[in-house]
Amino acid sequence: MCRSLSPLLLLWLAGCGAAQPDGVVGTHDGPSFRDDRVGHYAVGSVASEAQIAAWDIDIRPDGMGLPVGSGSVEDGEYLYEEQCAECHGSFGEGVGRYPVLAGGEGTLTEDRPERTVGSYWPYTSTLFDYIYRAMPFTQPESLTVDETYAITAYVLYLNDLIDDDVTLDQNNTATIRLPNEGNFVPDPRPDVANERCMQDCRGGAAIEFHSEVAPLIPAVAVSAEATAATVHPGAETYEQYCSICHKVGVGGAPIVGETQAWSGRLENGVDSLIKNALDGMSSGTAVMPPKGGFTHLSDEAVEQAVRFMLEKSS
Ligand code: HEC
Ligand code: HEC
Repeated sequence: MCRSLSPLLLLWLAGCGAAQPDGVVGTHDGPSFRDDRVGHYAVGSVASEAQIAAWDIDIRPDGMGLPVGSGSVEDGEYLYEEQCAECHGSFGEGVGRYPVLAGGEGTLTEDRPERTVGSYWPYTSTLFDYIYRAMPFTQPESLTVDETYAITAYVLYLNDLIDDDVTLDQNNTATIRLPNEGNFVPDPRPDVANERCMQDCRGGAAIEFHSEVAPLIPAVAVSAEATAATVHPGAETYEQYCSICHKVGVGGAPIVGETQAWSGRLENGVDSLIKNALDGMSSGTAVMPPKGGFTHLSDEAVEQAVRFMLEKSS
């Protein structure tokens, strides 16, 4: 279990498998704090098995962490066409400016390298992991384990790395090697090459801090009124949900801050822009999903985000 925890969570746990805490001595404004565990960080509480399992979805290059399941190239073709081709193209060629997933072999040393799963990625485990966590772009974590195996298989097939009769599962996925794996090398800088201690390590008392440890949660001394006066009510929605596409112009999204990108659209009036943001729109290969794909957002929140985007772009 320990292997896959983020450093922050590890810090929080103050060591995997730590005993149930007792001796909680008091609470300040922040987390409760104990003073009886010398050498530990004395914050937080021990995460439950279920909490750890919910975070524990990452997968190592050797396949450790792959969930039990399976999916075939054949099933993957159908799923890919339905859920991925719209952006990545039926053959992985990429629609508009969405990433290309197949092809590009031998282009890495050229002026314009085409980095795809076949030409660039090091491990099939990363492919499974990435799709499972992050795709489809507007509905991450919506795929089942079996669907993810099938789609992973299909993407590998599009890259001519497996045949069309292959079924991937937790045992064979990591055995399929990608052509560029050998060009990924360990970082040789000395501060990252220290050997990790796994047993008989120095005790906590022998470890010296040479500088102050930064607080986990920075102190923020801004009053609620001050925040309300300076922050636009649509700013937060924009940052969290809309900026992924509108900051850099993913798939032809008008870029926030570029007046020209918006002036033509504004000819139909602000209400029209708000309506299109709510209902979605599409012209050519550009697709703006309803509410950016985040249908749980209220109409009010989306409207405020549009007003914020326009304010930033005028
Ligand atoms: C609405 C458009 C959209 C859809 C649908 C979509 N993706 Fe993506 N995909 C993206 C975008 C945008 C990125 C780049 C994300 C980033 O870099 O943060 C991406 C990145 C990827 C990458 C990484 C590419 C690279 O080389 O870095 C893979 C692999 C991928 N998508 C697979 C899939 C699969 C499989 C599906 C279907 C289950 C899917 N995507 C559906 C938009 C989409
Ligand atoms: C997956 C990428 C993506 C996300 C996320 C996204 N947009 Fe868009 N948006 C687009 C694209 C692409 C267009 C251009 C569509 C077109 O021209 O047909 C667009 C267009 C728009 C427009 C112009 C509408 C018009 O009438 O011309 C507005 C307003 C807008 N988006 C608001 C938002 C808001 C608000 C959010 C967040 C709640 C958001 N978008 C999230 C991709 C996205």
